[in-house]
Amino acid sequence: MFNNMQKKSLVMQAFVTGGAGFIGSHLVDRLIADGYKVTAFDNLSEGKMANISHLAGNPNFRFVQGDVKNLDQLVELLKGQDVVFHLAAQANIRKSIMDHFGDLENNLVGHLNLLEAMIKNEVRDLVFASTSALYGDATIKPTPETYAPLQTSLYGASKLAAEAYTEAYTQFSDISFWAYRFSNVVGERCRRGVIWDFIHKLWRNPNELEILGNGKQSKEYIYVADCVDGIMTGYSKSKQRVNIFNLAVEENRTVDEVADIVIKEMKLQEVKRKYTGGERGWIGDNPVVHLDISRLKSFGWKPKYTADEAITRTARWTLESVT
Ligand SMILES: NC(=O)c1ccc[n+]([C@@H]2O[C@H](COP(=O)([O-])OP(=O)(O)OC[C@H]3O[C@@H](n4cnc5c(N)ncnc54)[C@H](O)[C@@H]3O)[C@@H](O)[C@H]2O)c1
Repeated sequence: MFNNMQKKSLVMQAFVTGGAGFIGSHLVDRLIADGYKVTAFDNLSEGKMANISHLAGNPNFRFVQGDVKNLDQLVELLKGQDVVFHLAAQANIRKSIMDHFGDLENNLVGHLNLLEAMIKNEVRDLVFASTSALYGDATIKPTPETYAPLQTSLYGASKLAAEAYTEAYTQFSDISFWAYRFSNVVGERCRRGVIWDFIHKLWRNPNELEILGNGKQSKEYIYVADCVDGIMTGYSKSKQRVNIFNLAVEENRTVDEVADIVIKEMKLQEVKRKYTGGERGWIGDNPVVHLDISRLKSFGWKPKYTADEAITRTARWTLESVT
């Protein structure tokens, strides 16, 4: 089995779900720069037209508002496409606790709809935004792709199930699959997560910062351009039917260290830290995430930005661009 990149010499057509979101919009930029014709598809539940407005009028770009829960719409739109980059998701672990069906419907049923629409249109390549959240509280660190995890969130469970379903689809269809288990991705257009939360809390009260948990939760923060570069490296170089990759930086930063950078960038002094306590920020939060990224590195990829640079750039963008 071969991927469409090898097969076709014409301009490649890419369908990007979640294309108006944070990572999706950066991937759209990269695909257009690489010569693809791109359809960004998004229901705008979290995505923003502002993330893609700079592409208006570009003949290689179109935006379609729609929902991956709508199979008929996907069947229609996938006609003539060569590859699907699937980033649309209910991506908020905390929201899963309130809405037990949300991850199932958006992340798993939506995923199956895409697989079915791909089969109907003979689209063979599926590139998927998975997550390090599916490793739960991993007991092996750095955690390799082969680790068999126990789930700690409905979000992680929905992504693992989506991976598992796609693996099974490769047994009876022509679909090839690339899945990337991202750690924390940060950068321009990132409008949630710890950096966003800290800056907004400190805008409201520059004297005190509430920190969820004990501040010692330790994660890897990867810059969005490195994340997109990792996706494209694996897609162009790894040729198995199923290609699963961790995607992160080498080094961890604690929540307290993220706070240090944000406070410095905001030029604040003597900020009192108030911890809500406990080793996790919320139910489903995995206190320490540290991924083994040697598999993707073996294909020649490595992150250009450190976690500190990624956090600093994100804080600066938030301070300059968000009012
Ligand atoms: N940002 C991270 O740190 C991170 C980490 C691990 C995995 N991921 C995954 O990467 C992908 C992109 O994440 P992001 O941070 O850019 O989030 P995001 O919320 O900015 O992007 C997701 C996009 O999907 C859209 N969407 C949601 N449900 C949809 C539906 N049913 N139909 C169509 N569009 C829908 C949203 O409007 C949004 O634009 C997600 O799949 C997420 O689970 C992100």
